[in-house]
Amino acid sequence: MRLKKMFLPVLALCMAAQFLGACSDRSAVVSEKLHIGVTYYNQSDTFLNGLLESFREQLGELEEDGMEVTVTIRDAAGSQRTQNDQVKELIDAGCGLLCVNLVDRADPSEIIDLARDNDVPIIFFNREPVAEDLMQWERLYYVGAYAEQAGVMQGELAAEAILSDDSIDRNKDGKIQYVILEGEAGHQDAIIRTENAVDALRNSGVELEKLSYQIANWNRAQAQNRMEQMASQYHDEIELVLANNDDMALGAIDAYKNLEVAREEAPVIFGIDGTDVGLQAVLDLDMRGTVYNDKEGQAEAMVRLAVAIATGEGMQEIDFEKERCIYLSHWKITRDTVEDYIKDGGEAAEE
Ligand code: GAL
Ligand code: CA
Repeated sequence: MRLKKMFLPVLALCMAAQFLGACSDRSAVVSEKLHIGVTYYNQSDTFLNGLLESFREQLGELEEDGMEVTVTIRDAAGSQRTQNDQVKELIDAGCGLLCVNLVDRADPSEIIDLARDNDVPIIFFNREPVAEDLMQWERLYYVGAYAEQAGVMQGELAAEAILSDDSIDRNKDGKIQYVILEGEAGHQDAIIRTENAVDALRNSGVELEKLSYQIANWNRAQAQNRMEQMASQYHDEIELVLANNDDMALGAIDAYKNLEVAREEAPVIFGIDGTDVGLQAVLDLDMRGTVYNDKEGQAEAMVRLAVAIATGEGMQEIDFEKERCIYLSHWKITRDTVEDYIKDGGEAAEE
């Protein structure tokens, strides 16, 4: 694991130095014991459950190396008010660091005030607060992925498929009739992914005709429902489905299966995330391609940052953008490459 190789020597050094009395920094004193409080927007989110599983695993490895780490995870169940209460509760329970996946990325003020008043730093993750909010206090950080890149890669994957396979343009009009399944309104990963996917397709020389779009909140069941509506409205006219994530792509696949449309008659469908279920659908040829959203890398960045905050060591080795943000890259996945990812899980993405 990357973290082990690159980072633990620094931690070990600091902890050893502490015994020798060399780490005089006040924050380093807490380095051997770390209580992390996590709250995330909704426990039904497949990608985030995978990310948090990896986060726990990687924290577990720190324990093997002698650091005592406790994690408390809370589900905000889609309510910002609930999440605000959870933050208060986690601080009261003695958490020295918070990892917050905001319900409403535009509404972090109460959480930031609570954290600042109690001097508890926050690593926001996956749902990016607006820049001005992040600048409210110097102990606020963000870990996420390049939203634009995910969209570009999805568009490129779709263009590669369309330009090499005539059968996708089923009505042979030289244009690709498409629909979008969009994540939440107002989420940085939704609009940016959509815009960039469509631009990348156009830049590759694909002529497009947009038939419709529906918001399905990252959710498989909602996407199935919306896709069935669009399929009943446009019948066999839809040739391409761009879904902002794998769960919604899977919902579209469910819809066509439920409508008993054969795969050759159904549109080609693309996702983003590379969740276990998403990768399986690529392997089964139900999904034409997806873009790997590096949950292991994001979890690792959170762990690295958490340890750096707790020990006061290692911060200068971290590649920050916009002062306090870390962004991870994506990979394209097709049927030709998917097996590497399924076999080795996220580890393949690290090579
Ligand atoms: C995206 C991810 C989605 C969903 C969303 C939640 O980055 O692709 O599947 O997890 O975050 O904020
Ligand atoms: Ca067409």
